Amino acid sequence: MKRFDIPTRRQCFDIIKEYHVPSHILKHSLAVAKLAVFLAQRLKEKGEAVDVDLVDKACLLHDIVRVCDFKDLDYSNFEQTVTEQDEAKWQQIRATHKGIGHEDAACSILKEKYPVLALTVKKHRYMAMLDEKAKPTTWEEKLVYYADMRVMHDRIVPLETRLREAHKRNAHLHGTEAQSKINTARVDPLIFRLEQEIFDRLALTPVALTDEFIDSYSNKTQRAH
Ligand SMILES: [Fe+2]
Repeated sequence: MKRFDIPTRRQCFDIIKEYHVPSHILKHSLAVAKLAVFLAQRLKEKGEAVDVDLVDKACLLHDIVRVCDFKDLDYSNFEQTVTEQDEAKWQQIRATHKGIGHEDAACSILKEKYPVLALTVKKHRYMAMLDEKAKPTTWEEKLVYYADMRVMHDRIVPLETRLREAHKRNAHLHGTEAQSKINTARVDPLIFRLEQEIFDRLALTPVALTDEFIDSYSNKTQRAH
């Protein structure tokens, strides 16, 4: 892995600003990064080859153009005051990347400067699990995908809770309702399998991994130094 493929945190926040990422999406991305980095560090301690920095930056940028997939730009669930500049940028993003999904759109934006990170971001598409070529295969890709599936808004929740909520919210992205049910029945078990694959390597259960757990773990390790 070449280090120059990965932006600094500062560069990530410049990109976030450039794309007018809504504040609730930014909070979500920070929470996903916190969880994924925690898992990446623990896996690394167990001897797995994981690039923690790549995981961190890919999580920060995974939803930079999430607005592509909003059914319509309904600002009632936005917590910020939407400016004319925000709206213009979001409309432009939606027009430019129409119909390709926010994961592929983010990949196309990031791939020239950060090809490895762009591919890691691309693979967090929920349905990617069903496609041998598109599914997450590296630890970095798996952790971005999995952490995103554990963070509801900006809180870590059990996989089941998050999946139930996402299915309700994203039904419009998965075709007809019947098709959506089939997809869900096929994809969700693969995500539970991924969870198992990660936690098999850790002395930890998925349910024990909460925001409070990560916070107290970092406080403890900070005190130990
Ligand atoms: Fe996403």
